[in-house]
Amino acid sequence: GRVAVLMGGTSAEREVSLDSGRNVLEALRARSVDAFAVDGIPALIDAIRAGSVDRVFNILHGNKGGGEDGVLQGLCEALGVPYTGSRVLGSALSMDKIRTKQVWLSMGLPTPRYVRLAQGDDVHAAARELGLPVIVKPSSEGSSVGVSRVFSDADLDAAVELAARYPGELLMEQMIVGDELTVGILGSDGAHHALPSIRIVPKGEWYDYNAKYIAEDTQYLCPGLQGSDEDEIRRIALAAFEAAGCFGWGRVDVMRDRNSGKFHLLEVNTAPGMTSHSLVPKAARQVGIPFEEVCWRVLESSLA
Ligand code: DAL
Ligand code: MG
Repeated sequence: GRVAVLMGGTSAEREVSLDSGRNVLEALRARSVDAFAVDGIPALIDAIRAGSVDRVFNILHGNKGGGEDGVLQGLCEALGVPYTGSRVLGSALSMDKIRTKQVWLSMGLPTPRYVRLAQGDDVHAAARELGLPVIVKPSSEGSSVGVSRVFSDADLDAAVELAARYPGELLMEQMIVGDELTVGILGSDGAHHALPSIRIVPKGEWYDYNAKYIAEDTQYLCPGLQGSDEDEIRRIALAAFEAAGCFGWGRVDVMRDRNSGKFHLLEVNTAPGMTSHSLVPKAARQVGIPFEEVCWRVLESSLA
């Protein structure tokens, strides 16, 4: 049957998604899958109505017109169209970093201390409570869009203003100083497996949008850790993925405190990037799984 590779959309991550989508489309076609590109949810609805969609490979990133927040998943469920990746609950929860943290904390999974910023809250008091430096971010964005690192009280208002330009709530989080790591999750044989971790070493201060997609000098070490540390990060990433009710595939972002060595979970990405700079494909390659095979396994998650 025909596979609609759903990409683009209207979120802040539109360009990233188009890049991911083109790669996925090419890989599926190389595997002789009859696949075609669809830009955004309204176009998908038209294609479904026209009877040309047998299943959906979802590589839309982001919320509100992106395909990561459960809305697309609900649509597909309602119309009986199989789709890749997390279902309604896992998608909606993971798109909301605040509620994801609440679930993790309730299960004893480690995540940085945080404050939810509501309209009219004293952000300076919140920063004092957490202790500078802090991270200010939209609770429901991706690719570090709208994220600021705040080291001084004087920079706080600008950070909040920036994050407030994006849809949804705002989150202030204790900044973990240390290593940025990520763990890809792939399904096979009816179970989820953690890929080797990747340690990201950006040339600049941190792994921002530029370091993610534009700079060519970001370094990626895979596996990111050794021995029992590597075992531990894979274990907590998989636990975090399952705690959030996720399914099929994803990527769990983790910080490791430079001083204590302790891991802190940041979030789960339920439709992780598949660009040439992206991390799930790199980790898979490390264990001998080529890009096309990653796409194939993700496609298989639509069969479940
Ligand atoms: N949100 C981007 C696409 C990622 O996590 O890879
Ligand atoms: Mg993300």
